[in-house]
Amino acid sequence: MKTENAPSILRSDYVPLAWRIDHLDLHFNLDPVATIVKSRLRCVRNALAPAAPLRLFGEDIELLDLTVNGAQPAPDAIRRTADGIEIALEGESAEIEIATRIDPSANTTLSGLYLSRGGFFTQCEAEGFRRITFFPDRPDAMTRFTVTLEADTATCPVLLSNGNLIEQGPLDGGRHYARWEDPFPKPSYLFALVAANLVSLERRVNTASGREVLLQVWVEDGNLDRAGHAMDSLIHSMRWDEETFGLELDLDRFMIVAVSDFNMGAMENKGLNIFNSKYVLAKPDTATDIDYENIESVVAHEYFHNWTGNRVTCRDWFQLTLKEGLTVFRDQQFSADMLGRMAEAGGEAAAASARAVKRIDDVRVLRTAQFAEDAGPMAHPIRPDSYQEINNFYTATVYEKGAEVIRMLHTLLGAEGFRNGMDLYFSYHDGQAVTCDDFVDCMAEANGRDLDQFMRWYGQAGTPRVTAQGHYDAESRSYTLTLTQHTPPTPGQPEKLPLVIPVAVGLIGPDGTDLPLRLQADNHGATTKLIELTEAEQSFEFTDLDFEPVPSLLRGFSAPVILELDDDDARLAFRMAHDSDAFNRWDAAQRYAERVILALAADAAAGRPLAVPDAFVSAFRALLTNDALDPAFRAQAAALPAEAYLLERMTVADPALLRAALMALMRELGGALSDEWLTLYRKHEVTGPYRYHPADAGRRALRNLALKYLAAAGVGEGLERAHAQFARFDNMTEGFGALAALVNSANPAREAALDTFHRRYRDDALVLDKWFALQAGAWRWNAEAAPVLERVRRLMGDPDFSIENPNKVYALLGSFFRANPAEFHLPDGSGYVFWADQVLALDRRNPQVASRVARALESWRRFTPEIRDRVGVQLERVRSVVGLSPDVAEIIDKALQ
Ligand code: ARG
Ligand code: ZN
Repeated sequence: MKTENAPSILRSDYVPLAWRIDHLDLHFNLDPVATIVKSRLRCVRNALAPAAPLRLFGEDIELLDLTVNGAQPAPDAIRRTADGIEIALEGESAEIEIATRIDPSANTTLSGLYLSRGGFFTQCEAEGFRRITFFPDRPDAMTRFTVTLEADTATCPVLLSNGNLIEQGPLDGGRHYARWEDPFPKPSYLFALVAANLVSLERRVNTASGREVLLQVWVEDGNLDRAGHAMDSLIHSMRWDEETFGLELDLDRFMIVAVSDFNMGAMENKGLNIFNSKYVLAKPDTATDIDYENIESVVAHEYFHNWTGNRVTCRDWFQLTLKEGLTVFRDQQFSADMLGRMAEAGGEAAAASARAVKRIDDVRVLRTAQFAEDAGPMAHPIRPDSYQEINNFYTATVYEKGAEVIRMLHTLLGAEGFRNGMDLYFSYHDGQAVTCDDFVDCMAEANGRDLDQFMRWYGQAGTPRVTAQGHYDAESRSYTLTLTQHTPPTPGQPEKLPLVIPVAVGLIGPDGTDLPLRLQADNHGATTKLIELTEAEQSFEFTDLDFEPVPSLLRGFSAPVILELDDDDARLAFRMAHDSDAFNRWDAAQRYAERVILALAADAAAGRPLAVPDAFVSAFRALLTNDALDPAFRAQAAALPAEAYLLERMTVADPALLRAALMALMRELGGALSDEWLTLYRKHEVTGPYRYHPADAGRRALRNLALKYLAAAGVGEGLERAHAQFARFDNMTEGFGALAALVNSANPAREAALDTFHRRYRDDALVLDKWFALQAGAWRWNAEAAPVLERVRRLMGDPDFSIENPNKVYALLGSFFRANPAEFHLPDGSGYVFWADQVLALDRRNPQVASRVARALESWRRFTPEIRDRVGVQLERVRSVVGLSPDVAEIIDKALQ
């Protein structure tokens, strides 16, 4: 029945390399079915490590030949292991030559060397290099690479690898070659090659120190008109890192390559970033404002890795957040700065609002994806202690919570203190593979601050709960705020210790304005103050207050915690109307909406009529029509909390009840406020040609939201507006916004609109992904309509769908399983049978993609007993399959524990 658990890799088992590889010469003879890889490794004994054989990892590759110092090794000097070979070496150094054969055409995993649309591409993080050649494929093996590529000139005119091009030319038989040298030592996960038929957009720019560098964005012929935004984003990223951290590009050439088949978002290979094409290609009529924003942030993310990840890398994969948390924080700051700078034309308030909207976006992702992960069977600290398959740990916890942990350091130390810590980090560790402790030690040393307790953030899983109790004493005119913290148990961690939690506090007076804060001795009188909660319970006393204030806590979301507030509706409405902190104002609206939605779901459960309280509608109307607020902010505040987030907030997750509640609320807000929505829609029209700009994007977002509410409520004039917008759009934000509104309505014209859209974009894979995702995520506004599952099954047979392409799988299956809970969790359980079928089919081709899809059901124990019974059967069914990948096996085992 149950297959044996894959062995766990433990963080505590780290042993330094016995042999360093100081140089690697690689030679590729590229062929779709039989690529020959020859490698020459210069090995040097590591005097600081215990003596051991040279350990080389290899996976799914054929060993043709191996010599040590030019000779065949003695048979007993070489040993095959489960994951590679071990060679006993004498002396202080040795030269190893290895030849392997690989079949890229058979590599459906998209890890290692694979084919995409006739070209050769690689993905080596985390452990893909061992699928190319035998090597100490671990991040602390830092090596200088020289790479020669040979390939067919006609099919692969472009030959790229890391670093600098030092030689190229023709060969016999219609082939050619190129030789690349990377001057910087790097671990094998940062190796890359591309051999394909591509064209490039080029720019030459100077770095801060005046060095000229060549920037290239490589795309398929015909896509050059979609590469400009990625190029601009790259140049902006370079400037930002120079200005903010004094970090310059260290190479003469920096390349970005777009590829259609890619498991993740993008990869920071040294000097040769390889991107999922959806994070490169954009032009106004194919990409939405959100796509433009995502491209800017992913380009920045990968570029920033050049220092935080490549120049200083991870000692082992447990330290992944060292580079990912830090780099996500850096890209978030960059995007906030860029959006703020662009919005500045509209004044300081517009700039501040644009930054707040970005923060809200980031926190939405954290609360939806990471909080759920932290509450489920995959909960792990940002630095895990064990894993079965490292690819399963590229998670929201390591990335997004990791970024919040870095942000807290930035908050506690200030921008200057943080910068000093970064400078020290590079001065100590440039060129090294280090740990998270090394990073935090630099922050501590540069700031003369003890961060030992802070380090608990790296070791404890679970989302801390913070509660607040306020007490006003009229006689002493003081207000005492008592905060408590508690982190619930997570798998393997029953007990938690108190964390250092920075809490940004404001106190609001009865007229809605912020009060000057006097905290005991400290008499600054600022209106927002950072307090540090370090114990399980602590009290803070504010003085000189003439009235009982309304507290505004965790401003800007100053820590990744769940703040349990006992604010009643009136208080939430008050803060929704007055909180000077944009984040908390948004948060008050979200909390109020959440209360209303959960109450409606309870009504549905009890068979009561679903009635939306008038007070909520009024508070919502007031915020929506407050023209002092930026449209982008209003769009954020008026969008309901994500369904996945709300499911987590239900005591027992019940997707059908939640959907009923959400539909009732959407209809009510759409209908009762139809005049307001229509006025907003008219007032915020964007004229002139499309530009990617937060001011325009905010208006488009608010208008699209108006259409969504109006269409949900079936308001005739709203549907007309949606049709009109759809009938003549010149940018994808408006086109897709209108289509989404029509599809998410009971309006019968939805099918015709979907067909029109399909006809217009039938040759555009990235736009078709949107078309698939929209249908898979659609709600059933018309009770007679067929279940969405039927449509998803049908779309899997669509000629434009391919189970081999990760973007298609994420668009169709990912959207259905994750973004459409009420349709996925059908009462008869047919959704789970379909889910299991798809996980198993995917697992035979691509375990990384299968595992991501499998994770859609990991929180199954939070659901109703009926759902649990049916999911349990399918989880057991998947677990019993022989030959499951370690990726999927780990997820299913943990889900069933
Ligand atoms: N380092 C890449 C990034 O965040 C992600 C690579 C993930 N790859 C994987 N196979 N898990 O930019
Ligand atoms: Zn990254």
